[in-house]
Amino acid sequence: MLFDVVPKERREDFYDRDEELSGILEALRLGERLVIVYGVRRIGKSSLVKVALRESKLPYVLVDVRELYYSENMVTIPYLVKYLIDGFKKYMKWCEKLGFNLRDALKRIRKVHVKGYEVEIEPKARISLTALFSEISSWCRKHGMRFVFVFDEAQYLRFSNIRYDGLFAWAVDNLSNITFILTGSEVGVLREFLRIDDARAPLYGRYRREIYVDRFSRDQSMDFLRQGFRELGLQPDMDELGEAVEAFNGLVGWLTYYGYYRVIRKLSHKEALNKVFEEGSKLVLEELIKVIAPSKKRYTAILKAIAHGITSWSDIKAYTIAKTGSITDKRFTELLKKLVKYGYLLKEDNRYKIPDPIVKYVVMEKL
Ligand SMILES: Nc1ncnc2c1ncn2[C@@H]1O[C@H](COP(=O)(O)OP(=O)(O)OP(=O)(O)O)[C@@H](O)[C@H]1O
Ligand SMILES: [Mg+2]
Repeated sequence: MLFDVVPKERREDFYDRDEELSGILEALRLGERLVIVYGVRRIGKSSLVKVALRESKLPYVLVDVRELYYSENMVTIPYLVKYLIDGFKKYMKWCEKLGFNLRDALKRIRKVHVKGYEVEIEPKARISLTALFSEISSWCRKHGMRFVFVFDEAQYLRFSNIRYDGLFAWAVDNLSNITFILTGSEVGVLREFLRIDDARAPLYGRYRREIYVDRFSRDQSMDFLRQGFRELGLQPDMDELGEAVEAFNGLVGWLTYYGYYRVIRKLSHKEALNKVFEEGSKLVLEELIKVIAPSKKRYTAILKAIAHGITSWSDIKAYTIAKTGSITDKRFTELLKKLVKYGYLLKEDNRYKIPDPIVKYVVMEKL
């Protein structure tokens, strides 16, 4: 069902994205070792990867690094190993169905035990990630298989006492039967963390496939909503759909919520729109507050300027100075860049805008 609000896993619940899906599937078929999926919040990255992996019929494990970070505050190796092991339990049946024998693959790692559908690490054991990746890769090589590790929202790996980009570079160079899929919604943050454009950094020059998940066009948004209604046997009012398409600027996550409230929860059109803005703004605010905390007044002034339609560097700066006092060019540019890096702002032809309508609403109404 298109209007189901959890990340999609089945192709039939997932609208379009044919090109992005074939990109991932081709990379897996060709045995490529590193795939990076970029796209702002709620654009459908997790769904895309899950659907692709189901279609690929490859064994995989997915770790939601954002969730790990929020619950543990730090992405250390022991936590990551623990989450991977938990992931193995979760995906064990799927892996087995595809002929991947986890027990066999993990057998050579000391202090890891597999019993039935349980995987356990001995208390206080320090398992190395390189050992874990290596054993799985060598098992797969022997059996002519490929295993996929997905690190969803991989930019959170930066909150650690070790640098994971070196580890990935090593794995990409040495482990022929493993593919890493990394996703990131703070696009600039992920690129910076991986240092893929830095000639002195470990991942520089490594082949990788990069996939950008973009907003839907107006036509796609309209068609998505229409299909969602039809799937449930309903004939939508086209004017209402037009308004929803206008309101959510091609962000499929918000369109899905609208469809859910309108069709499944049976709210009126206006109520459903309001509900998406109200509920959505809670999600947005919680994250935005953390990002702008180091300089809340200035970030708020910048965002408010842009929300009110001011778009050029110098006009936004003038507005910020009027609201919060003087600021150097360098510092002002840093603040602006950080908002772009986190995906809150989009810079196009030297003009800044807020691409997510719910973010804009939060800036106008809640900051
Ligand atoms: N192509 C699609 N067809 C149908 N529903 C979709 C599609 N893409 C995303 N969705 C829906 O949109 C919402 C957001 O999707 P998803 O969680 O996959 O995005 P994301 O980019 O991983 O978001 P986040 O940044 O919050 O992790 C979910 O409710 C999901 O079911
Ligand atoms: Mg996601």
